[in-house]
Amino acid sequence: MMYSEKVLDHFSNPRNVGEVENANAVGQVGNAKCGDIMKISMRIEDNIIKDVKFKTFGCGAAVATSSMATELVKGKSVDDALKLTNKAVMEALDGLPPVKVHCSVLAEEAIGAAIQNYYDNAGIDKKVKKGCDGCCSSCGGHDEHHHE
Ligand code: FES
Repeated sequence: MMYSEKVLDHFSNPRNVGEVENANAVGQVGNAKCGDIMKISMRIEDNIIKDVKFKTFGCGAAVATSSMATELVKGKSVDDALKLTNKAVMEALDGLPPVKVHCSVLAEEAIGAAIQNYYDNAGIDKKVKKGCDGCCSSCGGHDEHHHE
């Protein structure tokens, strides 16, 4: 199995690992395919993600994609962060082997869950719609990856 240099770099030296102190957005999701878990915490101020960290019981590909995903959303607005897809994260990492695509969905979903938690805490009446867009051929876009 071949991993890109960027995947190996983010796997061996993951960015933003841990939990944000004073987090006001926390999301945890599980991967229906492998049973792995991802937790993302954020500090959001004035609609901007000031800080973000992740913890995962996932594989190396989950570590690398979460590292890259947290780098990509840090400093961005909530709305921009919600536009981040697992595909964009994989592209930023120069790709993942097909059997590892499902691992990249964890970060995207956990970011969505954290922002939903932020909306709920702040009394903002918005629903985050996130999850699999048919990225992996194995699920073909049905609801397998969606988590409450
Ligand atoms: Fe579970 Fe990669 S195998 S996240």
